[in-house]
Amino acid sequence: MRRSTILFHVVVLTNLLQRQLAFEFRDALSRRSLLYEGFTVAALCPQFAVAATTEKPLLPGGRAPQNIQIKGEWNDMPLLQTKLAQSRIGQLDLSPLQQPFLGATELYYAPFLFGSWNTTATLKRKIYPFGLNYVPSNSLIEGSPRYREETVGDRCSYEVHYFSTIAKTMANQATVNLGLGIPETKIIQDRAFNSVSLSAAYNQLSPVTDVVWDYRNDPTKVLLTLSSLSADMRPLGPRRAEIFLQARQAESLGDDVFCSAEKSRAVTIAGRDVVVSETETITEFRQVDRDHVSAISRIAVYLTPNPNSREGILWQQTEGKAIAFFDYELEMQRLKEDVPMANGKVERRACVRTPKDVIQCD
Ligand SMILES: *[C@@H]1O[C@H](CO)[C@@H](O)[C@H](O)[C@H]1NC(C)=O
Repeated sequence: MRRSTILFHVVVLTNLLQRQLAFEFRDALSRRSLLYEGFTVAALCPQFAVAATTEKPLLPGGRAPQNIQIKGEWNDMPLLQTKLAQSRIGQLDLSPLQQPFLGATELYYAPFLFGSWNTTATLKRKIYPFGLNYVPSNSLIEGSPRYREETVGDRCSYEVHYFSTIAKTMANQATVNLGLGIPETKIIQDRAFNSVSLSAAYNQLSPVTDVVWDYRNDPTKVLLTLSSLSADMRPLGPRRAEIFLQARQAESLGDDVFCSAEKSRAVTIAGRDVVVSETETITEFRQVDRDHVSAISRIAVYLTPNPNSREGILWQQTEGKAIAFFDYELEMQRLKEDVPMANGKVERRACVRTPKDVIQCD
């Protein structure tokens, strides 16, 4: 063998070893994913370390075979109505959602979602399109991005808020600047409230303690401070997560069906460890009556193309496609409040407290 050929082989082998080691190191740290309404955060939880996987090392190149594994059945799933839901919840071959050219930087929801809701989520099924060998952490097999032990059939209730804000459109800027009438309002979710609410309801390992989210100026970024104590009071060290909301699409069908899809990247920093995770949440909401909404929601998990890890190789082989789906049924019930009216009477109204501490009622 020529010297250069030998050198080439040594370099390839060393790279492979490094990738394998990098993966085992990460797995030993046990990547945990936590979901905050609409986005997922991976957290490092050494005390829950899982054994390193015993799979054969993977060689770079080649294509992952389809090897669909499904946990749970959802036979009576309602028909998906929007094209967006059909193309993303109705599919197993999913590439990351793309941001439309000149698309909005905020996800605007249908007006019927305004208010505070008691949401009950039931995990109906888990799907692994390439099989379990392509799933980067055991918590995504034993649990879900929402909860490390969430299994099919589990239910969880939590409160979510959607409030009204002046949409940041060109037309509205002009309306506000020139004092031309009433600017158009749009419904957005209160990401700060919802992330704390979900994290508490799902008893996540490191609960969210603080959220920085400047929805007027930088709606695509959410900063979370995670508790330095685990739910059972074990010290975890300081940790935080930066969520980048990268792409969004929405579709309405009449006044009572609405679908949203949002892709996000979460960068979790715990000491010197940094974990990146990518997920997409697609939800088709159907208004049942004024006070009830039912929805089908999917969390799709993607691998990250980190070149120095085993996950990077898996990402190449799966061509960046989703490697896990978590499909939920959501039942939402409107929470109402007694509001004193001008005539001295009290009425039950749909209200929500905005992040600026203003109470909005319908
Ligand atoms: C929310 O709904 C669940 C399930 O129906 C129920 O058990 C729970 O009491 C409700 N919570 C509130 C605050 O209404």
